[in-house]
This record gives sequence, C-alpha cells and structure tokens, in this order.
Amino acid sequence: MSTVTTQPATAVREYANFIAGEWVRPRSGEFAPNINPAHRHQVLGLFPRSSAEDVEAAIEAAARAFPSWSRLTMQARGAILHRAADLLEKRLEEVATALTQEEGKTLAEARGETARGVAILRYFAGEASQPLGEVYPSASANTFLYTTRVPLGVVGLITPWNFPVAIPLWKLAPALVYGNTVVLKPAELTPLTCWLLVDILREAGLPPGVVNVVFGRGSVIGDVLVRDPRVAGISFTGSNAVGRRIYDEATGRGAKCQCEMGGKNPMIVLPDADLDFAVELTLSGAMRSGGQKCTATSRAIVVGDILDAFTEKLVRRAQEIKVGDGMDPATYMGPLVSESQRQQVLEYIQIGRAEGAELLCGGQALTEGEYADGFYVQPTVFGNLKPHMRIAREEIFGPVVGIMHARDLDEAIALANDVPFGLSASICTRDLGAAMLFAERIEAGIVHINSETAGAEPHVPFGGVKESSSHSREQGKAAREFFTHVKTVYLDKPPVR
Ligand code: UN1
Repeated sequence: MSTVTTQPATAVREYANFIAGEWVRPRSGEFAPNINPAHRHQVLGLFPRSSAEDVEAAIEAAARAFPSWSRLTMQARGAILHRAADLLEKRLEEVATALTQEEGKTLAEARGETARGVAILRYFAGEASQPLGEVYPSASANTFLYTTRVPLGVVGLITPWNFPVAIPLWKLAPALVYGNTVVLKPAELTPLTCWLLVDILREAGLPPGVVNVVFGRGSVIGDVLVRDPRVAGISFTGSNAVGRRIYDEATGRGAKCQCEMGGKNPMIVLPDADLDFAVELTLSGAMRSGGQKCTATSRAIVVGDILDAFTEKLVRRAQEIKVGDGMDPATYMGPLVSESQRQQVLEYIQIGRAEGAELLCGGQALTEGEYADGFYVQPTVFGNLKPHMRIAREEIFGPVVGIMHARDLDEAIALANDVPFGLSASICTRDLGAAMLFAERIEAGIVHINSETAGAEPHVPFGGVKESSSHSREQGKAAREFFTHVKTVYLDKPPVR
C-alpha cells in the first residue's frame, strides 16, 4: 500500500532505487513521501520503501561489479571522482536547494555543505596519485619486500539525515577510489540529495553496479545489509543505539565495521576570552542546523566570575536568532528535520526542567503564523546545568545548550570529560598555556581552540573517543585505513639459470 500524501499523486514525482546502473522500482511497490520540514504539506517526491529483496539485488550488483572496478587503475577511478566533483560544483545550487528543502538547514549552510562535498570528491580523487604502501628491507638479499593496499570488496554505507551530502560523500569517495563497490542506504528523511549525488556519479561515468542505492527504512533494509555475508565492510553514522547494534552484528560475523555516533560537546569559556566572540561561537555551535549535528555544542562551561555576563549575552543573542524557513536568507536557524525529532527535543526540555535546570529562554515549539506548518522549536538555553542531569549527559540533537559553572580550568576540564561521549570539544581563551593543557587533557577526538565545536575539514581524521565512535576515524588518510586491507608482498627473484 502506498503511503497517502497530501498532494495528488500525479503532481509528485516517484523516484526509484539505483541498482546495477538502472533506476529500479522497489519490489514492494511502496513509496513514502519526502516532506519539507518547513512546510509539512510540501511533498518533494515519493521515495521507495524498499524491502529485503531490493537490498539483496543491490548487493548482488555490487558483488558482480567488484572484480572489474577493483582492477581499474586508481587513476581511472580518481578521474571519475574528479568529474563528479566538477558536476556537483555545477549543480551546487540545485543540490543545496534540495538539501534545505528536505532537511531544513539554511541555504547558506546547505551551500557550504555541498561545497564541502566537492572538496571531499577532489581530495579523494587526488588520493589516486598518492603512495599506497611501503618498501621494507628484507632479511633476505633476494627479496623485495613491500606493502600495498587492497579494497575490502562490497561495502555497505548507512548515512544520516543531518549531513545528507557531506557524509555519504565522505564514505563513498574513499570507498570508490580504493576500489570497493557500494550499497548505500541513505536516511529515510533525506533521500533527494542522495538521489542527486548518485545521478551525478552516474553522469560522471561510474560503471553499472559500482554504487547502488536502496531507499527505505533502516529497520527493514539496514539489517539486511549488515547481515549479508557478501558485504565485507559497514560504515555507519547515526545514533548510538543503532550504531552499537550494527557494530555487534557486523563484527560478530567477521565484517569490518566503523560507527560514528553521538556527542555531548563542551565549549569551555575562560575569563580572559573575548565574551562576544565566545558567545557567537557557542551560539553557532549550538543553534546552526538546529543543533542537529553530532558535533553541536551542547554544554557551555564558563569559568570564574564571567558567568553572569556570559549568560546574559548568550540568552540575549539566542532570543535574537531569526528562526524560519531555511530558504529565507534572513534565517539563522531552520526547522528541525521531523515531527518526531521535535518531540524528542521537547521531551528533553521537559526533562531538563524537571531535573531542576533553569530554563533561561526558549523551551517551546513555535507553532503560529509562518511556523504553523513546520517543525520549529525555539532556541533554548538552560542555566544551572549540573553534571548528573540527563540533559547534561545525553545527546539531545536540537537547539538546546546548557550553561555550567566551573571555578577554574581544572574543574572545567573535569566537567567537560564527565560524560560518556568524546567527539568534539572547544575552548575559548587567549591563554596559550591553558589552551595547550586543554588540548592535552580533554577526552575528545576533535579539539577546537577559539573555534566552534562543529565543522570538519575533509583531509584530516574525523571521529571520537568513548561512546562517540567505534575507535576508528573517517576522512583523510584515516579513510584509507578503513576502506582497504594491507597486503604484504615478499617478491623473490627466481633462481638464475
Ligand atoms: C560537522 O560538524 O560539520 O553527523 C560535521 C554529524 C557528524 C558530522 C559533523 N558526523 O553531525
């Protein structure tokens, strides 16, 4: 049964899965509407609700494409990524608009993310001319001893809705350049940008079966991908609850697996910091993309006697934020991605109040006037955040930041570290010694000094410690670690006749 939409079916385009180089209807015949979170009645397209059979067909196609794809030269594979980068750059406005319309982030953010996608493709295209291994001295004078790298085979990529351009590309580009073939399952909430990316890869000359995309629910099709013995590696970004299960399942059957998951990222503000600057970094880290980033700032840890001044400025700035449709250039913060995401955020706000945190501003859904049709929540600031509170420990994934006070840097770092996560962390200070001590002691995979907690450049490792990741890293050279195996070759001269 097709899901009922609010527009006549004829007005809405039906999209298809991409399997073995063809656009293929889902076997189930079922589709789900892709909704604009700023205008819930606007359906951007109907996307397949695929079933296990579709995933199996995609895996089969990827397995069949692997031998010839992996035997191409890296340069030939890199050239396709180069062409895809050029095409994505040409279609940047189209992709960024689709991203804003289906995810909700502002057009400026969507353009930035798409430009990042171009940079990712170019970086990994460039990897095609980088060394793959090392030459070692051997104990035998007759032996040339070296290492090289080989692809894993078919890899399954499971990607989230919050960066539907950047995250699929930062998994796809290295997977492809190192010779893997792919089955990609994008988030159900943001299929259109992924569809456009695949269309671009197709246009760039990717052979059939090298990338296959299956749209639908993680609970139905994700598990099929994770369990299938033909899938040699799984790269997942998303929630901890799902990631942990995927990791156990995939590694349990001997597959390689990496999971990038949640964060509870702190911004420490020292008394010597420029307060306006510190407030802007906190605000941007907490509120851009509606706080829906695993790198979002969710705790401001303010040191010494600047607490009141910082709090007053942050609250004033949070109240000034222009919330609205991301397509409006005046908007600072768009809607949340879905009604259920909004409910989850509102629930956490209730939990925070019940736990005794002080609601300083926001805290409500925005439902009137221009907001009536979207999934909006006010930018929310809590004061008196205490380390035992759930809102100080759990990932909220919304425009909510809590302020904590610390007596000194030592206490601030202890508070910052007192959470199960360790993805990103920032400090705002002019004191070089304090910054260096922070960089040394903070339990995080990504450290920022005088910049916000969010953001990631494509050529450096990205990932966290503790429950934020499966101890692996993505992007840069780290991506090569995941998407290849090392092969050690003992090459001996045959006897001379
Ligand atoms: C960023 O901060 O720009 O899902 C990237 C996430 C992260 C990516 C963050 N994996 O939010």
